[in-house]
Parts: sequence; C-alpha cells; structure tokens
Amino acid sequence: MTYDVIVLGGGPAGYRAAEHAGRHGLGVLLIEERSLGGVCLNEGCIPTKTLLYSAKMYEHARHGSAYGVTAENVKLDHGAVVARKNKVVKTLVSGVAASIKQHGVTVVYAKGQILSKSAEGFAVLAGSETYIGKNVLVATGSKALIPPIPGLKEAFDAGIAVTNREILDLAELPASLCVIGGGVIGLEMASYFATAGVKVSVVEMLDKIGGYTDSEIAAALQKQMEQQGVTFHLGSKVTKLENGTVYFESAQGTGQVDAEKVLVSIGRRANTEGLGLENVGAVVTKQGLVTDEQMKTSVPGLFAAGDVNGKSLLAHTAYREAEVAVNVLLGKKDWMDYSAVPSVIYTNPEIASVGETEETAKAKGLTVEIKKLSLRYSGRYVAENEGGQGFAKFVFEKNTRRLLGVSMIGNPASEIIFGAAAFVGRRMRAEEIQKVIFPHPTVGEVLREAMF
Ligand code: NAI
Repeated sequence: MTYDVIVLGGGPAGYRAAEHAGRHGLGVLLIEERSLGGVCLNEGCIPTKTLLYSAKMYEHARHGSAYGVTAENVKLDHGAVVARKNKVVKTLVSGVAASIKQHGVTVVYAKGQILSKSAEGFAVLAGSETYIGKNVLVATGSKALIPPIPGLKEAFDAGIAVTNREILDLAELPASLCVIGGGVIGLEMASYFATAGVKVSVVEMLDKIGGYTDSEIAAALQKQMEQQGVTFHLGSKVTKLENGTVYFESAQGTGQVDAEKVLVSIGRRANTEGLGLENVGAVVTKQGLVTDEQMKTSVPGLFAAGDVNGKSLLAHTAYREAEVAVNVLLGKKDWMDYSAVPSVIYTNPEIASVGETEETAKAKGLTVEIKKLSLRYSGRYVAENEGGQGFAKFVFEKNTRRLLGVSMIGNPASEIIFGAAAFVGRRMRAEEIQKVIFPHPTVGEVLREAMF
C-alpha cells in the first residue's frame, strides 16, 4: 500500500504531523512501537504534571491556614496519585487515537524500519508488512541517557536505579531518593517526592541547577527547594554506585548519599538506532538525525521532527516542527524559528523562560538592559501567594528596547510565558508591548509593567 507520508513514531511530533497531514487530505500511515502519545503523554510531561498537581494540592491543604483555611489529617496517598495519573494518561491517549482516526490516519503498532528508497518512494517495514511512503517523517523521540558509571547497571538490575519511566509507577513512596542530574526531570521529580515526604538529595555536576536557567532564578529555586527539604550537592560528579549508595566527588572532596531509589536524569539521547536510516544515507550525528530549518534531512522526502533531531527536546517544539515538516511537504512556505521557544520547569514555584537570559545575552556580546521586577507588583500574585518571593527578569536590547528574553520564578509562570514568547518571537519593543491590554488582575500583568 502506498501513502503520501509514513510517520514513524506517535509522540507529539508524530501525532501532530499525522493529524496535520490528514487534515490536508494526505494519505497517512502512522507506525508506533509502544503507545500513542509517546514519552510526553505516557511517561513525561502529562504524568509528571499530574503528580505535581497532587503535590500542590497537598501543599495547599497543609498550609491553608495562612489563607484562613484549615484541614486536619491531610495525607498524600501515593497509590491513589499514581492511579489518577494512569487514568489521565489513558484519557489523553485515547483522545489522540480518536483525533488521528478522525483525520483519516491509519495506525500500525510495530517498530518501523526504512528498507530502501526508489522512484516509488520509501519502503518501510512494520511487523511483517512493507509499506511505501512517498515521504517519511521520522518522529521517534529520545530515551534517557545512561552514563557508564560503575555499579549503575547493577543498580538498574536490582530495581534501585530508575529513569523517568519507572519512577512514575513506583507503587510506594521510597524513604529516600537520590536524583543524579539537577536538570528539568530531576528538579520536577525532586519537587514531587520532597513534597510527598521523601528525603531527597540531588547530585548535579554543574555549579548550578536548571541547566540554562538564569543563574539568579536557579539560585532562588534552589533556596526554595532546600526549604522544602531537598539537599543539593552541586559541582559533584558521581563516581560509582554500590547497593543504593551514590558516591561522588567535588572540589571539596568526596561524598556519598544513601538512598532507597536513585533517579538517573542526566539528559536524553535521540532514538536513531534500528530505523534503517543508513539504508537511505541519512546523516546522523551524536545529537540526532540532522535536519535543516524546514525539518528536511539530507535525503529528499525524508523529514524529522521532535527529539530525534536533537535540537530542542521539548514537546511544544516538536508540535511546531511537525507542522513545519508537513507544510513544507505540502509545498507551503514555512520554517522553524528556535529563537522564542519557551521552557518551563514545573516545580513549586514554577520557573519559566524564553529567549535570552542575562548570561546568554552577555556571552553573545549583546548590549542589553536588564530589568528585574518582583511579581508582587501583581495584586493577583499577592492575593494568591502568601509570602511569595517570585520575580521576573527582562532582557532588552539597549538602544531599541526590543524585548530579547524573559525569565521568571513564581506561580503560574508556566501559564504566562507564552505571552512573553509572542513578544520576543515577534521582535516587539517595550513601547509596542505597553499598548497591549492585559486582563486585570492577573500575574501576567508584570510583563506589561516591566515595559515602562
Ligand atoms: P537536562 O539536560 O535537563 O539535565 C541534566 C542535568 O544532569 C544537567 O544539569 C547536567 O549538568 C547533569 N549531569 C549530566 N551528567 C551528570 C553526572 N554524571 N552527574 C551529575 N549530573 C550530571 O536533562 P533531563 O532532566 O534528563 O531532561 C531531558 C530532557 O527532557 C530535557 O531536554 C528537557 O528539556 C526535557 N524535559 C522537559 C520538561 C519540561 O519542559 N518541563 C520536563 C521533563 C523533561
């Protein structure tokens, strides 16, 4: 059977591409090895947000007295939290299945492999069938990077070490958790488990948490997480694991953490193996399947979107990349702009950013003006965040006052940052943003306030 496009992988990039192509009348085959929704829906974005929302409710219930609300015997039932997470995942996965069906997409559950390319198109093997696709979109995502740390394999075999996948399904809360890697996954999981009462330690190789997060915001988050009971070992490299003991070394010497569970969250790697990419001569580097800004690979008709190209590793980037790829194969003019991709860490408080930070702007030699504003400028923030210390940092191009970036800490940063992304992405200047009317009272009003 011949299709206009065969999509390999049913995560955010794959299912969005399939829907988009189906909507435009293309014949689409989607090949998925595990479950529709990919990492995002099954073992990433959505399950973690479900857990974190339960943690937030627990936190609110325990500390409600500051708001005039008291409750007794407040408990977090981890089993019930995981059961609800499973229900949410199931609902959303079936929603994706219904949507792609509605768009006329055929789904095959198998591992897809590209066998060859001819004048007809790409021959793709899935199960025992071979399908022909005039175009192929690779959207196979990424998997957890497992470093060659002595003792780590044994810890995985013993069920002590886990990745983002297994940690979401722990039947019971461990007494203690050591997180290796203080990036996005590590911090979100540390936030949930610490709130749930688990003794959490984070061992991070760099001198700060949160990767590219603005340093001042990363330090503020670290302080708040420490107050929630999380211990951080920064500038610390893990040297070995032995029966749940994580050994590390830093400039100060050596250290160790004993933990019932160890989460390995030191980054992710593109899933490029076993796809037959070598059969058609596609260029693959350590980062992933190489694409240009139109999601084209070096092979005509072969596209890649989402984590597999190693560019951004975020579901929302994947959605947009998928649309770009399909638009391009429909002959429309479209390309990816990576300059205003927002990023969020859903800790409590949340942090979010888009565009340049103070550090990245300075590293690029840009002449910038930095403005820092407390979220307490927002009446809504004060009303809803007793004692909240949230703040936002704005990076402007000095002469034009064009907004280059925004970073913020405080709730609900995740729901506000898209506004900043629109301003940064549209290259807007402060005086233009001043003319945008924001609803009052909202925490987002700080974006406008900072423009004066
Ligand atoms: P990450 O790249 O965010 O963080 C990994 C951290 O591990 C870094 O801080 C790094 O310095 C540290 N590290 C590396 N090797 C180490 C070692 N041997 N010992 C100690 N520390 C070490 O990767 P993470 O957290 O695994 O997330 C993977 C991807 O998933 C990210 O690209 C992220 O953007 C995405 N993601 C996004 C979410 C969101 O948007 N909220 C949620 C979860 C994941």
